[in-house]
This record gives sequence, structure tokens and C-alpha cells, in this order.
Amino acid sequence: MSTAIVYYSMHGNSEMIAEKMAAKLDADVIRIEPDKAYPDKGAKKFLWGGKSAVMGEQPVLKPYEFDPDKYDSIIIGFPVWASRPAPPIWTFVNDQKSKLSGKKIAVFACQSGNGAEKAFDRVKKMIGIETFAGEMIFIDPKTRVNSDNDKKIALFCEKIKKER
Ligand SMILES: Cc1cc2nc3c(=O)[nH]c(=O)nc-3n(C[C@H](O)[C@H](O)[C@H](O)COP(=O)(O)O)c2cc1C
Repeated sequence: MSTAIVYYSMHGNSEMIAEKMAAKLDADVIRIEPDKAYPDKGAKKFLWGGKSAVMGEQPVLKPYEFDPDKYDSIIIGFPVWASRPAPPIWTFVNDQKSKLSGKKIAVFACQSGNGAEKAFDRVKKMIGIETFAGEMIFIDPKTRVNSDNDKKIALFCEKIKKER
């Protein structure tokens, strides 16, 4: 059966992980984008993005193609914003939650420090599931190169392959 990797990325960290996983899993990759881009520089980036995340905003997304019936495993990846999934992913999860609850869902998050576990809990709650098929956390993997990351991705992908 097939796997989809759905992600949002502002600075390319989550994108990098999504692409590496897609190559190993032969997965479809769906990039989520807000219709109106968030500021990506300076103080505005943290103010607007942080506020949007804390307020639980669900920004309107650019049209994307995703048919959940095509997949048995869905991997959702995002940067952590204020201990939450970045808001475009929040929109995606809310829009699709009824379809996601019957699937194997795995997650990965990129962050600079901490908050990913809390973000994972929020996503579980939103979908209405107890556990994920897999979870991975990365610390700014694009800029803080760490050879363990590739091993982590390989193990995670093996687990997903066995379970799908
Ligand atoms: C608005 C905003 C809020 C953030 N909040 C957190 C946070 O709560 N915890 C953390 O560790 N990193 C936080 N970060 C850092 C990003 O999660 C981190 O740099 C991530 O690797 C970026 O991924 P991306 O390149 O896929 O966008 C925040 C970044 C932004 C822009």
C-alpha cells in the first residue's frame, strides 16, 4: 500500500526531512502552503507566526491534492511554532481529521529547542487518536548537520514499511 508525506516548511528543514523520507518510502509528497505567506524574516516572523500558532489559527491553504483513500499510512511533518504545529498543518489536520482517524498516522517535527512533544499531543487530540505509528524530532536539521539524523530516518522508514 502507499504512503503520503504531508508537510509544511518555512525554511526548508521539514522539507529536507520529507524529501529524504519520500526517497526511502517511495511516498507521495504533498506540500501544504498558506494562501497568504507568513513573514519569514526578523521579529515579524516570530510575532506573526507565534501569535497565529498560539491563537490556534487555521489559515486558508493554497489548493492541494490529497486523496486519503489512496493511502494507508500518512506521515505529517511540520516545524514547531510555540510548541504547536505550524498553523498551516493545523488547518490540514482539522480539514482532514475524519479521514485521518482510520489510518496509520506518523509524525515528524523540526524545532530549534523544544515543544515538539506538546505539538504531537495536540495533533493526536485533534485527530482523536491515542498513538502515532511513529514519531521523530529533529533540531534544525538543515543547518545543524548531524549524522544521526539519517540513521533515525532510515529506522523510522523501516518501521513504516513493516507496518503498512
Ligand atoms: C513563529 C515561530 C515559532 C517557533 N517556535 C518554536 C518553538 O516553540 N520551539 C522550538 O524549538 N522552535 C521553534 N521555532 C523554530 C522552528 O521550529 C525551527 O527552526 C524549525 O527547524 C524550522 O523548520 P522549517 O525550516 O521546516 O520551517 C519557531 C519558529 C518560528 C518561525
